[in-house]
Amino acid sequence: MSIEQQHVLPSYLRADDLGPWGIYLQQVDRVTPYLDSHLQRWVETLKRPKRILIVDVPIQLDDGTVRHFEGYRVQHNTSRGPGKGGLRYHQDVTLSEVMALAGWMSIKNAAVNVPYGGAKGGVRVDPRTLSRSELERMTRRYTSEINIIIGPNSDIPAPDVNTNDQVMAWMMDTYSMNLGHSSTGVVTGKPISLGGSLGRREATGRGVYVVACEAARQSGLEVEGARVAVQGFGNVGGTAARLFVDGGAKVVTVQDHTGSIMNLAGIDAAGLAKHVAEFGGVAGFHGAEKIADEDFWAIETEFLIPAALEGQITAANATKIRTKIVVEGANGPTTPEADDILRANGVLVIPDVVANAGGVTVSYFEWVQDFSSFFWTETEINERLERVMREAFAAVWHVSQEKKVSVRTAAFIVACTRILTARDVRGLYP
Ligand SMILES: NC(=O)c1ccc[n+]([C@@H]2O[C@H](COP(=O)([O-])OP(=O)(O)OC[C@H]3O[C@@H](n4cnc5c(N)ncnc54)[C@H](O)[C@@H]3O)[C@@H](O)[C@H]2O)c1
Repeated sequence: MSIEQQHVLPSYLRADDLGPWGIYLQQVDRVTPYLDSHLQRWVETLKRPKRILIVDVPIQLDDGTVRHFEGYRVQHNTSRGPGKGGLRYHQDVTLSEVMALAGWMSIKNAAVNVPYGGAKGGVRVDPRTLSRSELERMTRRYTSEINIIIGPNSDIPAPDVNTNDQVMAWMMDTYSMNLGHSSTGVVTGKPISLGGSLGRREATGRGVYVVACEAARQSGLEVEGARVAVQGFGNVGGTAARLFVDGGAKVVTVQDHTGSIMNLAGIDAAGLAKHVAEFGGVAGFHGAEKIADEDFWAIETEFLIPAALEGQITAANATKIRTKIVVEGANGPTTPEADDILRANGVLVIPDVVANAGGVTVSYFEWVQDFSSFFWTETEINERLERVMREAFAAVWHVSQEKKVSVRTAAFIVACTRILTARDVRGLYP
């Protein structure tokens, strides 16, 4: 039976092309048989976002003309606490994608046991086509439009693809201006000068590295001397690459939107980061040779870190992949078909909902620090982050071994059980 036939689908999605939301639904289906019988009656709650807001974001461009952008904020589930999830600026953002990303945030927050539900936002825009002041106006107008559903106790945005601490500062300021007083806890991933947390910028990449080390330990692999492939050399991929190199591994190939490069002797991650900051991508980096994009997947490595966009590892390229462990830095980079192929080929996949949860974990620390107006040191933050990530990995690993399921299914079992237990004990209003 197709996914369209199995589910009661919302009228606002195309039933014949569900996009990322269809992938999310399949993942929930896979976990359902493993849930306790008293929780099964609540599963439908995971397949319907709690609240979706679609907004028109008009701004005046620098040349005086007016442009409209389509924006979304989706709150997927708030059974365990306020919605929490990033804001993405990308020209191809769709409602299906934001819904799926919000769903994965619910799972992720429960998997690492931070007291949040899941949410996500997006604006259909290529921010590189806007000037800084246009970007600021668009961010402020979008924030005003979604103002009615966000807040430190209801839904807390954070950076995602193509958004950063400056965008969060504009969001915090806009929300605060509408409120009449400063509200730092409405967003996380803010600049340090505005109540941001030390260690937040590197947190996701650091979490990827910590989880990769734990997975290596369980698999009898050494990180020192290991070969690493990284797709996406932005915040997550760039930080993870640097930590792998610091840990004695070699980054042998990198791919981003500008192309793919390889150096089997090891790419200088710090040098590449400088090059990317200056030229906008890995293309043209002198310390490696250019390779065809399709060849990136076939390079033999111990770790493959997808840290770009969703849907990158597909049935078409999964058969070519020659790595031992995939650690998903990106959200939803592996399709369910590809997941099955990798598993059949003996590749261990550490799923996004655990692997990239470092960002939201330090976002949680930032929110707690903002509420108490008491800030921790970077060492304290990194130690607490590492502990949360190791404990989350251990709990999920234990379930995967006990039930003989993939780590992804195990993570969904742990997370869905926590979400639906909260739903069950709260009861249904009214
Ligand atoms: N930043 C965070 O804290 C965080 C937290 C959890 C998950 N994530 C996820 O990690 C991923 C990367 O986020 P980020 O913050 O590093 O974003 P970023 O904007 O800093 O970097 C994105 C990278 O992906 C590359 N990329 C874009 N399109 C590509 C394509 N078609 N092929 C190859 N590479 C491509 C870009 O060149 C860039 O290097 C996203 O899936 C995001 O949802 C980020």
